[in-house]
Amino acid sequence: MTGFVGNCAIALTIVGSALAQGKWYPEVLNDGTPAGELLNVSGTQIYQSYPALYSKNSTPAVLFVTDIYGLPLLQNKLLADSIAKAGYLVVLPDLFKGDAIPVQTPEGGLNLTAWRLRHSTDEIDSIIASTIKYIQTDLGAKKIGGVGYCFGGKYVPRFLAEGKGLDAGFIAHPSGLETAEIQAIAHPITIAAGELDTAFNVTGRHAAESILQTKNATYQLNLYSGAPHGFAVRPDLSVPRQKYAKETAFFQAVRWFDAWL
Ligand SMILES: *[C@@H]1O[C@H](CO)[C@@H](O)[C@H](O)[C@H]1NC(C)=O
Ligand SMILES: *[C@@H]1O[C@H](CO)[C@@H](O)[C@H](O)[C@H]1NC(C)=O
Ligand SMILES: *[C@@H]1O[C@H](CO)[C@@H](O)[C@H](O)[C@H]1NC(C)=O
Ligand SMILES: *[C@@H]1O[C@H](CO)[C@@H](O)[C@H](O)[C@H]1NC(C)=O
Repeated sequence: MTGFVGNCAIALTIVGSALAQGKWYPEVLNDGTPAGELLNVSGTQIYQSYPALYSKNSTPAVLFVTDIYGLPLLQNKLLADSIAKAGYLVVLPDLFKGDAIPVQTPEGGLNLTAWRLRHSTDEIDSIIASTIKYIQTDLGAKKIGGVGYCFGGKYVPRFLAEGKGLDAGFIAHPSGLETAEIQAIAHPITIAAGELDTAFNVTGRHAAESILQTKNATYQLNLYSGAPHGFAVRPDLSVPRQKYAKETAFFQAVRWFDAWL
């Protein structure tokens, strides 16, 4: 009897301290060395990150559709590693064939209109479609989730349409997301929106919510106060509301896949 009471007390102490340290949910990495590997898959460079317990054909996969800073950006690779640590095989293709925007580009130092013309929707669609095929056939994943940040936030909904290959999705501060793309979503979607994001502003947010509700979709839309465009990847970690928003948007994604993938 004493032993039982003693064990309970110890167990409660452990749970209590774990909660206090916030270690009971997966955490997002903000610095360190990327743990994944770089592959060349039919000419597309791919960053691939594995969970601790990986089993080919049974571990669910997550396709990572980046922002305009792409595969070279450290935070993108660390975010991929963080999702992998939460139990997923993460596959991040270079959408821009070595032409991602350098993160230190000075304001006005680059013609974005010309850059966008070099990376058309058709071309990005085709890279994503072949990456999904690679995940299904070479990696044997039976379930595939998609995460999309900024630029990538347009493409995850496109591949959540019927028969396009994604089974559940997460997007954060999407840019260029169109009504028809939201309307065609056929699988569970969760959205992380920033209060200060002008690319996905209050009008766009409410429109998306209304479409998903009307469709009786399985969806979630979280709004993060004080969060600007890009917050789920590159927040100012010295600003508590931005730091919270990135951590929780990551948790939002992982939690969604745990439930719906
Ligand atoms: C990737 O492989 C293709 C052949 O499949 C080759 O033509 C290309 O040069 C390779 N690219 C890199 C970056 O190694
Ligand atoms: C940017 O590129 C577009 C498309 O090529 C071109 O029409 C425009 O003149 C360019 N703008 C500047 C400021 O160079
Ligand atoms: C949100 O953005 C759209 C498209 O740029 C614009 O038409 C709309 O007025 C904006 N809404 C607000 C509240 O600023
Ligand atoms: C909405 O979807 C849920 C889950 O698929 C289903 O149980 C429910 O009947 C649907 N509601 C309507 C009004 O279609």
